[in-house]
Amino acid sequence: MAVLVTGGAGYIGSHMVWELLDSGEDVIVLDRLSTGFEWAVAPEAKLVIGDIADASLVKSLFRDHEIDAVMHFAGSIVVPESVAMPLAYYENNTCKTRALLETIIEGNIRHVIFSSTAAVYGNQGEAPIAEDASTNPESPYGRSKLMTEWMLRDASAAHGFTYTTLRYFNVSGSDPRGRTGQSTEGATHLIKVACETATGKRPAMTVFGTDYPTPDGTCIRDYIHVSDLAAVHRLALARLRRGGSNLTANCGYGRGYSVFEVIDSVKKMAGRDFDVQLCTRRAGDASAVVANSDLAYREFDWQPKYADLDRIVADALAWEEILARGNRQKFDRAEL
Ligand code: UFG
Repeated sequence: MAVLVTGGAGYIGSHMVWELLDSGEDVIVLDRLSTGFEWAVAPEAKLVIGDIADASLVKSLFRDHEIDAVMHFAGSIVVPESVAMPLAYYENNTCKTRALLETIIEGNIRHVIFSSTAAVYGNQGEAPIAEDASTNPESPYGRSKLMTEWMLRDASAAHGFTYTTLRYFNVSGSDPRGRTGQSTEGATHLIKVACETATGKRPAMTVFGTDYPTPDGTCIRDYIHVSDLAAVHRLALARLRRGGSNLTANCGYGRGYSVFEVIDSVKKMAGRDFDVQLCTRRAGDASAVVANSDLAYREFDWQPKYADLDRIVADALAWEEILARGNRQKFDRAEL
């Protein structure tokens, strides 16, 4: 059996491709390379450059390969961009997924794993958030993902495929073997920004808000290593293949770190000090976003391997060093 990974040239998708290959799966990647990179796709996977809404292309993939499952990563993910360009987010995330689902149903694909986000919860206060919390997304990004969750639920009920929706918390780090990592230019995510600062790509970084109701005044987030996240997807697929029912599960470790704690870890692991400017709050940030991940631990028998902030930071830094050396991966691949 083969797995179709949409968005497999992107940050999380490219880690998923390695995870699947490492566990012996055949992998087809569908990516239009709008934000992903051809070189990020493992050479053992088959990369098809194209759009998830191109029904004839997707049909041909289902016809030509023994695909039983789709892992759907393709989508737009930048919250402020979604506020500026909401219709682009509804188009990319919601409408195109609707088109993909139609082709999935026509192709009799059995299972779907969908990348959703903690942004569907909105601001819920300090306590860890469980899946049965009310959903109240505060951005078009969160709403575009929540609408897709609803489509999946309704389409599954009508057409019989099974699915798992995974709501990601703060995904960070990179492949521990250095095969792929977060390569997006102009990334805004805290660990990426701090690692870029530590390796000299940025002259300084900014802390957005030091007056939150948290122990050190900065925001708390649940940072999950991208390779542990990929493992959750693999386990979720195994569960569906065993006949498991539809499920929506949080993906975090259930433990939060403040912005200052993250920056301290980056300085420690890099062995370098760097300039940190303290600034006012960034619009829309919740003071604490931590997962209650009991469901993922229980349902998937998930045993994270990298649930340690220093480890996440070390792997993120290692990838930053690779990028700073002129993207070793890219050149190695070009020579293959
Ligand atoms: N932060 C800084 N300085 C920076 C970057 C971030 O202080 O340069 C702070 C933010 O203000 C926030 C924390 O670090 O307090 C984490 O910010 P990120 O941008 O790394 O991540 P978010 O928590 O804002 O967003 C993440 C995902 C989104 C998702 C959201 C759901 O990136 O896709 O969680 O909660 F929608």
